[in-house]
Amino acid sequence: MIPPREAKVLVTGAAGFIGSHVAEALEAAGHEVVRLDLRTGDDVRDGAALDRAMAGVGVVVHQAAKVGLGVNVADLPDYASVNVYGTAVLLAAMARHDIARLVLASSMVVYGEGAYDCPTHGRVRPAPRSAAALARGHFEPHCPRCDSEVVYAGIEEDAPADPRNAYATSKLAQEHLAANWARETGGTAVALRYHNVYGPRMPQDTPYSGVAAIFRSALEAGRAPRVFEDGAQLRDFVHVRDVACANVAALRGGRPGLLAAYNIASGQPRSVGDMAVALATHCGGPEPVITGGYRLGDVRHIVAAPHKAGAELGFHARIGFDEGMKEFATAPLACPE
Ligand code: UD1
Repeated sequence: MIPPREAKVLVTGAAGFIGSHVAEALEAAGHEVVRLDLRTGDDVRDGAALDRAMAGVGVVVHQAAKVGLGVNVADLPDYASVNVYGTAVLLAAMARHDIARLVLASSMVVYGEGAYDCPTHGRVRPAPRSAAALARGHFEPHCPRCDSEVVYAGIEEDAPADPRNAYATSKLAQEHLAANWARETGGTAVALRYHNVYGPRMPQDTPYSGVAAIFRSALEAGRAPRVFEDGAQLRDFVHVRDVACANVAALRGGRPGLLAAYNIASGQPRSVGDMAVALATHCGGPEPVITGGYRLGDVRHIVAAPHKAGAELGFHARIGFDEGMKEFATAPLACPE
């Protein structure tokens, strides 16, 4: 039985990749869903549009955002406007409508680099890798104290924030604004820090796309996926339907407090090279090419500790890497967002 306060849910960004799956999962769980999206004419930065959408709503699930790494500093105003200002307008509207729960789409990019252990110094925070090291093919980070090679570890939610680009900064700002709102109103905010989400309706290759969509788009065009570095960099690829389930779980779970943040991940880290091979195999080729090239802003490994979401939200990803990639290899991609 759904409590009356949770019966009607506003999903922002409901026409997007993740938002559309979230809206479907909420409906399948018995909720009434109000969809708001720029693509269907309503903007989160428009207080009047929010007032219309929020009538009778008990929970807001905020997925609308400008995503990706961006192209250059010309993107800064858009990230600040859509993600930061948009969230501020949304929270003010929630207060007007006495809506007491927010589920926020956040991202593992707020951590910057992943977590690493040095054999001598324990948990350390390596500096960003230098262009000179990357150009020499030295991809693994080193201990900032003794320069030994470090070993990746699952990143916990209490890791220090280290936003390294405008998107990451805007996601962290959203979390802080949500905590400010919770303090002022007594509301509850739950931030879901998505790891590398993939699955049906992922937008095709654009400068803002994640690597799974870039590889899929290449394969669809008959081109080999181009894997940077040596392909051994690790990510946690989590299926979009699992991410949607995490949002449904976050409607109720979550530790009370200003803002509870959770890694939303599969718990099965895989290398980018393995992901390219899995997709190429299921697409029938061509085989991936390891280029040895690099992007200066990339982090080496970022692997999630998914336990907190399991313990406090009851969220456990169900779609494994092999099954998910097999489906994704032939799933429809969306037109660029
Ligand atoms: C990505 C998103 C980030 C999002 C996060 C969690 C982008 C650009 N980054 O971060 O916004 O918050 O997931 O969902 O959307 N790579 C290749 N070949 C390519 C492109 C990339 O080998 O053609 C490699 C990169 O060098 C990197 C890895 O793939 O090592 C992941 O890249 P990407 O998906 O772009 O960024 P993330 O840092 O994982």
